[in-house]
Amino acid sequence: MSDSILIFDSGVGGLSILTEVRKALPGVHIRYLMDSEMFPYGIRADGLLAERIVSVCKAAVSSFSPSMLVLACNTASTLALSQLREALELPVVGVVPAIRVAGEHCRRTDNLCFGLLATPATVSRSYTQALIDDFASDCRIERLGCSELVDLAEQHIAGVDTRAALHGLIGNWLAQHPHMRHVVLGCTHFPLLRDELELLWPEIHWIDSGAAVARQSARVFRGIADEDNSLSCNWTGTQEPEAVKRFLSQLGPLKDAGRLLV
Ligand code: DGL
Repeated sequence: MSDSILIFDSGVGGLSILTEVRKALPGVHIRYLMDSEMFPYGIRADGLLAERIVSVCKAAVSSFSPSMLVLACNTASTLALSQLREALELPVVGVVPAIRVAGEHCRRTDNLCFGLLATPATVSRSYTQALIDDFASDCRIERLGCSELVDLAEQHIAGVDTRAALHGLIGNWLAQHPHMRHVVLGCTHFPLLRDELELLWPEIHWIDSGAAVARQSARVFRGIADEDNSLSCNWTGTQEPEAVKRFLSQLGPLKDAGRLLV
């Protein structure tokens, strides 16, 4: 088994997690895998999606033998994390909306209302509701499921200025809740828009799970962590993800890249 970490998402979103994992474990080979053939996950039927996630991850684990998997997708983790852990014989770290952290911030600032911005699937999952019941039952939560924002993050990574479109998609929702000061970015695509979000709405504290997932990954990782700082990139669709390869190349040497057939 190689001492590498496999980070998986439907599209570019997992790069927001990869950036944090990289900071926590700079000397570990990271392989980024995107299921571009089935993108976007947030509008797919649950049964089909769960099967797909398990079969793509199984194929990747058998091809690349990573020592750990980070399921860098809220939509996938809130649906199939336990199924995946049962199906694979390696540690799996998931990503779920930072409801607990948002609840803590709200209590500290005496403003018991926060936003949850995620995919339509994640905002309505029972897993998400259980997180709210456990960690933020005293808060009022304004939910917005927005798949168009996922597409916007894909465009933003490719270098497009998405500020006007971003304002068009969530401006009204934020204006309807003027005392909301905390918003959970419950989709890994959304922190990739952080520069624009902060510019447009500087009064909002945007909360994501990246740093917490990186800390958990560093706790779980059992390999040697100062050997190989290279990265790899794989995808399932027919189109080569040039923007993702460029993003990864800025973080370290890109060792290999190619399509994964599932
Ligand atoms: N990045 C994913 C998430 O965290 C899903 C985006 C999608 O494919 O809809 O939910």
